[in-house]
Amino acid sequence: MITVFGSINLDLVVSVPRLPKAGETVSGPDHQSFAGGKGANQALAAGRAGAEVKMVGAVGRDAFAVPALANLREAGIDLSDVRELDGATGLALIGIDPSGENQIIVASGTNARVRADWLEDSLTDAHVLILQGESPYEETIRAMGLARGAGASVFWNPAPVPAGDPGAGLEAVNTLVVNESEAALLAGSLGIADGVDTFLDNVVRPGRAVVVTLGSEGVAAAKGDDRFRFASPSVDAVDTTGAGDAFCGALAAALDHDLPFGRALREGVAAGALACTVTGAQSSAPMKADIVRLADQIV
Ligand code: RIB
Repeated sequence: MITVFGSINLDLVVSVPRLPKAGETVSGPDHQSFAGGKGANQALAAGRAGAEVKMVGAVGRDAFAVPALANLREAGIDLSDVRELDGATGLALIGIDPSGENQIIVASGTNARVRADWLEDSLTDAHVLILQGESPYEETIRAMGLARGAGASVFWNPAPVPAGDPGAGLEAVNTLVVNESEAALLAGSLGIADGVDTFLDNVVRPGRAVVVTLGSEGVAAAKGDDRFRFASPSVDAVDTTGAGDAFCGALAAALDHDLPFGRALREGVAAGALACTVTGAQSSAPMKADIVRLADQIV
């Protein structure tokens, strides 16, 4: 059973000929709107990857709340602890260039007012709690504490990396997932030298696996004394938005089903690759059968 404590957004997406520099305006055609938010994306991805999932977070009392939750509702994700608060639902403004690369500005809205105590009494040792970096860091830390107290496993994707001491978060984590730039930021604040392998060697601990996603290059990871590296299958990428969330959701679902760590990583890599082939952070989250089929081809 997976519980996600995190953000829920509506994404407004514009395809642009190139991503703007600071101070520049770049135009595209009509915008598209999609459900998004790293928390909601990971909840949907885990659900589509076969897990039973509960989402804990907040939306505003506005017109964006319903479309922001529509995919989760349709997928049967438990939304009983998604609160409706005064204020605006989280909003992401996303530009996508022809190679599928993106630039994202997030207006946090009610995501800035989620509270860890909404999780009280709902976590057990049968749970994996997934958290990201779009919720207030102090509430994320409290949520991790509640999870550890209940014997649940803590899965943290600090995207974006929170300001403040990452040590408190790391102490509680069983599975850490970062991309290369997030690893570099964490390494800087932990006083670790550059490099993915150095990061893995310095951050892995007994009871704490560490995963660095490498975009189209795949993934590198450490668990105990074991080291893993899997290349990503090549796909025609149209939109990389949500690829990391698809990776996290599928990896967490596989771990929740007690798959061996190497197989779980392959399923994550397969899900991340498939997510790049469709526009939209949630519309692109692949189904279990497609993940399994592609993961079987990753060696
Ligand atoms: O990871 C992609 C997500 O980041 C988007 O859906 C957007 O809402 C932002 O939170």
